Amino acid sequence: MAIYIVKVSTGSFLGVVSWDNISVSLVGTEGESLPLKLGNFGKDFNQGVEEDFEVKILQDVGSELLLQIHNAYPEQPKSSSLNPDAWFCQELQLISPKNPPLHFPCYQWLEGTESLVIRDGAAKVIWAESSPILLEQRHLELKRRQQKYRWNEYFPGLPHCLDAKNLKELDPNLRSSTNKNVLSPPSAGLSFCRQMGLKMKRMLDRKGPWESMDEICEIFAFLKSEVSEYVAEYWQDDEFFASQFLNGLNPVLIQCCHSLPDNFPVTNNMVAPLLGPGTSLQEELEKGSLYLVNHSLLSGLSPGLIDGRPQYVAAPMTLLHQKPDGGPLLPIAIQLNQTPGPNNPIFLPSDSEEDWLLAKTWVRNSEFLVHEMVTHLLCTHFISEVFAIATMRQLPMCHPVFKLLIPHFHFTFHINTIGRMDLFKPGGLIDKSTALGHVGCLELVARGMKMLTYRSLCLPHNLADREVQGLANYHYRDDGLQIWDAVERFVSNIIDIYYPEDRSVFQDSELQSWVQEIFVEGFLGQECSGIPTCLETLQDLVQFLTMIIFNSSAQHAAVNSGQFDFSAWVPNIPTSMRLPPPITKGTADFLGSLGDVSTACHALILFWGVSDQDRDMRLLGTYPEVHFTEEAPKQSIAAFQSRLVQISQDIQERNKGLDLPYTYLDPLHIENSVAI
Ligand code: FE2
Repeated sequence: MAIYIVKVSTGSFLGVVSWDNISVSLVGTEGESLPLKLGNFGKDFNQGVEEDFEVKILQDVGSELLLQIHNAYPEQPKSSSLNPDAWFCQELQLISPKNPPLHFPCYQWLEGTESLVIRDGAAKVIWAESSPILLEQRHLELKRRQQKYRWNEYFPGLPHCLDAKNLKELDPNLRSSTNKNVLSPPSAGLSFCRQMGLKMKRMLDRKGPWESMDEICEIFAFLKSEVSEYVAEYWQDDEFFASQFLNGLNPVLIQCCHSLPDNFPVTNNMVAPLLGPGTSLQEELEKGSLYLVNHSLLSGLSPGLIDGRPQYVAAPMTLLHQKPDGGPLLPIAIQLNQTPGPNNPIFLPSDSEEDWLLAKTWVRNSEFLVHEMVTHLLCTHFISEVFAIATMRQLPMCHPVFKLLIPHFHFTFHINTIGRMDLFKPGGLIDKSTALGHVGCLELVARGMKMLTYRSLCLPHNLADREVQGLANYHYRDDGLQIWDAVERFVSNIIDIYYPEDRSVFQDSELQSWVQEIFVEGFLGQECSGIPTCLETLQDLVQFLTMIIFNSSAQHAAVNSGQFDFSAWVPNIPTSMRLPPPITKGTADFLGSLGDVSTACHALILFWGVSDQDRDMRLLGTYPEVHFTEEAPKQSIAAFQSRLVQISQDIQERNKGLDLPYTYLDPLHIENSVAI
C-alpha cells in the first residue's frame, strides 16, 4: 500500500465549483488503481483554492503515468450554483512517498459524469513516444477535441472557422474563462449611450450629413484620449497624414517605389517643386526615396446602402517622398481610382486646400476598409483562430507546441464568435457603419486572402519585401522587429529543449498533421501563399511558431489598440463616404462627402467597444496557466519576460522624445492573444 497526497487547484473564476464528487485513479506501468474519492471534512473544491487530499493505493501500479479524474453528479444538486455539475480543474499534483512531486496541468472543465485523463506536465515525450498506454491516452484526448470547421460567415474564400454560431455552441473548454469582462458591440452601444447621454442617442438616430465642423467637435467632446486630441489638432497636416502609414492603424501597406505603376501617371512637372532643388522624379525613384501606398484591393468592389442611401468607395494610390536626410515623409500625389483618365485627376498638395484635404480624406476612408477587413480581421483574428483550432485538434496537451501556443489563443474563439454574431449579421454594425456593408466587407477579406503570403506574415520578410529599411521614424517597424526577435529567441529556446535535431521535427507526425491542417483549413490549400505544408527543420519550426505568436499578440496589438485613438476624430477615419470621389478639381464638398452622422456614431460605438481597457488582459509573455512544469522551459519564459521588460523600457525612453508617442508595441500594452 502507498499513501499519496493529491493537491488539487480549482479555477479562480465564477461558476467553477463542484460538489464533492471527484475521484481519481492512478494509471501506472503495471496497472490501474481503483477510483479514489477525494474528500475532506466540509465542502471541497472551492473557487481559487488549492486543497490537499490523502489517498491510499492498495495495489502496486508501477511507475506513475497518468491520472484519471472522474466527476459524478451530486446526489442533491445545489440550484444556487451557476453551473452545478461543472468543475474547472486547474492542476493536480501527486506527492508520492518516494519520488519528487508530479505536476498534472489540466485547465479544463469537467461536466456531468465525464472523466478526464491527464498526464505529468514534465513528460518530455513527443515524437518518439512508444508506450501503448500513453499513445492510447493521446489518441483518446484528441478524439475528444475534434472541433469542426465551417466556412467563415459561410463566405467562400475566407479561412475556415470554428463551427459555433453563438457562445452557447462554444465548447466550455474553448471559452478559456467564462467571466471575462468583454464588451460585445450591443452592450458597448448601450454603455456608450449611457455614458454619452441623450444627445449622443439623438445623433445615432440622425440620418443626413454633418452640418458643420462644430457638430463634429460636439461628438468628439464626449470621449477623448490623449492621442485622439493630438489627431483632432493635426489631422489636416500632410506630415501627420503620412505618418499614419508608418505608425497608425495600418502600418503595413507602404512600400518603396522604384518605378511608378503604369496606371498612376504622375509627371515630373507635377511633383518637382516638392522634391527639392536639383533633383527630379526619375532621380528620386532611382534613389529609392519615393514610397507608394496602393489601395488597389478596393477596386471594383460594390458599396452598399446605408438607410437606403448609396455609399461610395475609392481605390486610391498615394505617392510619398522622404528626403534622404531623414526629413518627414510627405504625400506628393494622390489618384483616387485605379484607371487613369480625365475623370480621375491626380491631386497635389498645390491644389486648393479643399481639394487636397478631400483627396486625403478619401485615402483615409480606404485605409479604414483595408485595415479593418484585411490587416486586422483577416491577418490577426481569422488566421489566429485557425492556428487555435488546428492546435486543439491535432496536438495533445503533453505536446510542447501545444503548451507553447495555447496561451496565445486565450479568448480568441470567444471574441471571434461574438464578432461574427454581432458585427457581420445583416443589419449589424458593419452594415450600419461601413460603405461596403457586410457582403462587400467579406468580399474584401476574401480578396485579401488571395494576396496573403507566409512572407507577409513574417515581419522581417514583410519589411524586406516592402524595402522600408530606410524610412525614418517608422516606430512600428523598429518596435515590431524587437518583439519578433524576442519571440523568436524564446521559441528557439523552448524548441531546443524538446527537439534534439531536424529529424525529430520531421518525424513528429502530430506536428506534421497540425501544419498540414493549417495549410488546408486556414490557407485553403493555396500553394502560392508559401505557407508550409510540412516542417523539415528546427529552423522551419521556430519560424512558423514565431509567426503564429507574433501575429496573435504583437501584430494584433499594433493594429487593434489604437482604433479609438485614431477614429474618435471622425474626419480622420470616415468609415463611409456618401458622395462619389471627385472627378474634377474645384468641386470638393468635404462635409457632404463624409458618411451620415448616424453612420459615424455607429462606428464610434464599435471603436469604443474594441478599445476598452478594463478587461482581464494577459500581457505578452505572462503564463498564468502553468503548462510547462520543468525547470528548463521555466527559465526560457523568465528570459523572455526580462527581454520584454528591457524592450518596454527602451520604447518608453524613445517615446519621451516624440510629440506623439508610439505605445502600441510596448510590451506593457501587448496582449498574449487576439482577445478583443
Ligand atoms: Fe481585434
